[in-house]
Amino acid sequence: MIIHETQETIRSIKSERDICILAHSYQAQEIIEIADFTGDSFQLSVAASKVSQKTVIMCGVRFMAETVKILAPDKTVLLVNPSAGCPMAEQMDKELIGTVKKQYPDYTVVAYINTTADLKTVCDVCVTSSSAVKIVDKITNNNILFLPDCNLGAYVASQLPNKNIKLLHGGCPIHAVVTTANVKKAKELHPGAKLLVHPECVPEVVSLADFVGSTSAIMDYAVNSEDRDFIIGTEMSIAEHLQYRCPDKRFYCLSQKLLCPNMKITTLIDVLNCVNGRGGEEIALDESTIADARVCIDKMIELGAL
Ligand code: 13P
Ligand code: SF4
Repeated sequence: MIIHETQETIRSIKSERDICILAHSYQAQEIIEIADFTGDSFQLSVAASKVSQKTVIMCGVRFMAETVKILAPDKTVLLVNPSAGCPMAEQMDKELIGTVKKQYPDYTVVAYINTTADLKTVCDVCVTSSSAVKIVDKITNNNILFLPDCNLGAYVASQLPNKNIKLLHGGCPIHAVVTTANVKKAKELHPGAKLLVHPECVPEVVSLADFVGSTSAIMDYAVNSEDRDFIIGTEMSIAEHLQYRCPDKRFYCLSQKLLCPNMKITTLIDVLNCVNGRGGEEIALDESTIADARVCIDKMIELGAL
């Protein structure tokens, strides 16, 4: 009941104050329920570019709020919990990539969206897990420098053998710890269950999957499948959300380690404080960062929509 009342209060304040709530699919169920829009990173970016409200609050991690600010610079954009960062997005900076680019001058620099706004200013095209294969395929240059996630990059390379993809050694510390031993154990415990895996997992795990896709693609696959049992190889919230949506099916986590503390740090009370003007951090980016970072994000939206 307390949760329900808090949700109702948030709903009424957000409509009074003209606030749009965006929530990534890894957020807790009680937050997903009050969001105006939920989805994977690509879907959230497209939603951000079309928001009509004057304030947008992001239930997710910092690079997601930065992406909203870049796409909607005239809006007030707040990150609900300022401590929510993405360790992968902090792995590489503009200076490092500037040095690497000098070694690969004729390569197109493709940045996973899990990067800082500052780093995006020196990249050519952005991708997300749901759009990476499609977008890299559409880039006319066959020489690609892919950063920071070497696992997503390896998956793209496996799907596009005609491309010459140079990988750097970054990645998601949550997905990357899942092993083939976890797969073996989960399959023994749940024989016949379909294995659905995020491409941030290591290639050995991805190669054993029945389906590979973004958080939203995994959810769509499971909802629409005729199968009933699924092992979910991404952050454990996805198994929980799917269990709510499909009570007649069964969803099992591939590993107990698939828990992203940064995605879990945002609470419903944080959302309440944020819509009340008593919490959250307003995202401030200078005009030149917004203009330069926007080039690769616009390219992503343009190529992703084709
Ligand atoms: P997607 O929702 O785009 O699949 O991204 C997963 C992720 O790890 C976001 O941080
Ligand atoms: Fe970053 Fe991985 Fe957490 Fe996504 S799941 S926010 S990539 S650490």
